[in-house]
Amino acid sequence: MKILILPDRDAAVARCVEVIAATLDARPDAVLGLATGGTMEPVCAGLVARAREGAVSLGEMRSFNLDEYVGLAPSHPQSYHAYMQRHLIGPAGLDPERLRLPRGNAADPEAEAARYEAEIAAAGGIELQLLGIGANGHIGFNEPSSSLASPCRVKTLTRATRAANARFFGPGEEVPRFAITMGIATILRSRHALLLAVGAAKAEAVAAMVEGPLSARCPASALQMHPRATVVLDPEAAARLELRQYYETVHPQGREVPLG
Ligand code: PGA
Repeated sequence: MKILILPDRDAAVARCVEVIAATLDARPDAVLGLATGGTMEPVCAGLVARAREGAVSLGEMRSFNLDEYVGLAPSHPQSYHAYMQRHLIGPAGLDPERLRLPRGNAADPEAEAARYEAEIAAAGGIELQLLGIGANGHIGFNEPSSSLASPCRVKTLTRATRAANARFFGPGEEVPRFAITMGIATILRSRHALLLAVGAAKAEAVAAMVEGPLSARCPASALQMHPRATVVLDPEAAARLELRQYYETVHPQGREVPLG
């Protein structure tokens, strides 16, 4: 794993935007794996700003989001369809057909998950998979105890995840209990995985992911098996890493340092 500890949150976000832009510069029609959540809002804003400056072209890319809540129609404001519309598709003027998500309101969610997995494969797989991490170590909605070989499927959300996401829902509105999510195997098949974590609330999960045992207890630890995983952190999210000094020697302030 490449561990990059940036000087602050904004710099960490900017680094992720740079990696995405570089991927699209090299291949404008790349297939990206996209993520949602609070962490990704400034990443979307950064991409939109770059696109408006003409510094990156988003029009030819295709993307697959990690997950969607079961039971929410795309028009529901808390659906991840609506999140993508609000934060990326609308502001950047993109064709929504090119940005795919599982259909949370499909009549048969398990069949929809299998269909989504096949759709990703038919697109040639994912070049760059963007990831956040839950305080409980989940990636996508692969909650603790997820099979490390799992495909796209329906997962039951933990109480902690539903509590963490309640802030996005209105008072009296229930956070859905189930989600369709890419599996750990789906994520491991991406050719480059880019995980962004900021803030002290993620420090423990980050330490378990990077330095803990490979374990379904912390599904993100499966990234230890990914041939090319980049973890971008701010100092607060990096605070519990025991080998932090080493990571900062290899990449001072998150910079790439030429060998020799
Ligand atoms: P957050 O969610 O960015 O809203 O913290 C990340 C996640 O749960 O994967």
